[in-house]
Amino acid sequence: MSKKIDPCTLVLFGASGNLARIKLIPGLFHLDEAGRLDDDMKILSVGRGEVSEEAWRADIKGMLDAKFKNGYDQKVFERFIKRNHYHANPPTDPNAFVKMKDRLSDEKSFPQNLAYFLSVRPTDFATVVEQLSGVGLLDESKYWRRVLIEKPFGTDLASAQALQAELTKHLKESQIYRIDHYLGKSAIQNIMLTRFTNAIFEPLWNNEHIDHIQITNNETLGVGERTTFYDATGALRDMFQSHLLQTLALVAMEKPKDLNPESIRAEKIKLLQSIRPIDVNNLNKQAFRAQYSAGRVQAGDGHAEKVPGYLEELKRDGVDSSSTETYAAVKLFIDNPRWKGVPFYVRTAKRLHEGNTAIAIRFKKSPMQLNDDQHQNWLIINIQPRECVKFEVESKIPGLDIATRTLSIDAPQRQAGDESIDSYETLMLNLMEGDPSQYLHINEVEAQWRLVDPIVKTWANDKTPLHQYPAGDRDPKESSVIFEAEDQFWRYSIELGGDKH
Ligand code: BG6
Repeated sequence: MSKKIDPCTLVLFGASGNLARIKLIPGLFHLDEAGRLDDDMKILSVGRGEVSEEAWRADIKGMLDAKFKNGYDQKVFERFIKRNHYHANPPTDPNAFVKMKDRLSDEKSFPQNLAYFLSVRPTDFATVVEQLSGVGLLDESKYWRRVLIEKPFGTDLASAQALQAELTKHLKESQIYRIDHYLGKSAIQNIMLTRFTNAIFEPLWNNEHIDHIQITNNETLGVGERTTFYDATGALRDMFQSHLLQTLALVAMEKPKDLNPESIRAEKIKLLQSIRPIDVNNLNKQAFRAQYSAGRVQAGDGHAEKVPGYLEELKRDGVDSSSTETYAAVKLFIDNPRWKGVPFYVRTAKRLHEGNTAIAIRFKKSPMQLNDDQHQNWLIINIQPRECVKFEVESKIPGLDIATRTLSIDAPQRQAGDESIDSYETLMLNLMEGDPSQYLHINEVEAQWRLVDPIVKTWANDKTPLHQYPAGDRDPKESSVIFEAEDQFWRYSIELGGDKH
């Protein structure tokens, strides 16, 4: 269902940064190619340095050449390039925002509905909003004005609330679009649709039938050049706090009464608020952390490449020690009738043996047990790299004996000819459409920090040396301390046998 977009100007702060160059500008081009941008829509890229309009347009061509190696439609390019303008906003110029307002006031060049994408340092979010407000650029009396805030929204509950307080001096909640790029992924959006547009799942989706649920994001990549950011952040705040808790909310929430943004967000908020707070006195049984050491990971060409450990990478950048986790696994319970007693195991890691993001649901033992180690049904909603839904079922082996084997019913979400859309494209389109359903409400952000803060604090005060796992290995076996039952274990790849290790 495509919605109508009002003519608008997208004002892109941080236009010379990596996100804009690699995702946002090529993403906007792709939307233009797909005919999803209004004819009059304009893009004003804002950066610190002076760049001529000509040079900026040449730069854009370079970004598109780098992204679309097989070429692109020249006619669309001509149309796209005319939409693009550049504006220098030097931090040293006290009149910079007045000049921006003068530039944007030119109604012939720029539609007056304004969407601001703040791809800037988190410490600058509030300042930019204050300055925009100061010159009247957030005023909605005649046109809409929306502000997209990149992640992270705070680094804990207090800082998120402080940022919120600053923003709401100038903005209504309906103007604030807090991004979590996972919500723009097609496979993540598929969770809610799979659950509620099929009759077969809902009756099973509860503690009567489900043994436990695993939500996993494992990466083979390490922290690379991002040591400063990562060391101050850690796996829990980087991945778990938003991407994985949002995924959990979609897996576990009740059916929204309709698909309006308020209805979807209301159910997610309710769910996030009903996750049982972590008992920090028993944290060792509920959460496990570790750091990768040197090891070998699968390189693109299939050979095992030697890679340094996390602490060695930090040392290279002048940091001598760290207790920041690159692996985090947490057990959660949801205090509502549907999920009473069902553990949710949520884990994320850098430098594991495989890169995969998945929701793996193990069902309870079946009513008929032919032998002690009969396979329990698994339903796997795989997010990436393969987008698919898999169901593992027992079936008779043809022949004279009564014996079963496990079959895997595989439903790929992606079929030949399907569009491939980056999550930022979807989310930018939603921003221009005024559809916040795939953006975070402040109540979601707060519920997420409320849950995560006590773990972060307890870990920060715990000086026990972190468990190390060799890069390219599977989960440290000590992580199984969080399992509720002895027969539970980490589910690996989506292939059959991913439960045998
Ligand atoms: C980012 C994190 O938000 O998400 C990164 O900062 C992580 O550390 C990335 O690698 C994962 O995103 P994706 O889309 O590659 O799964």
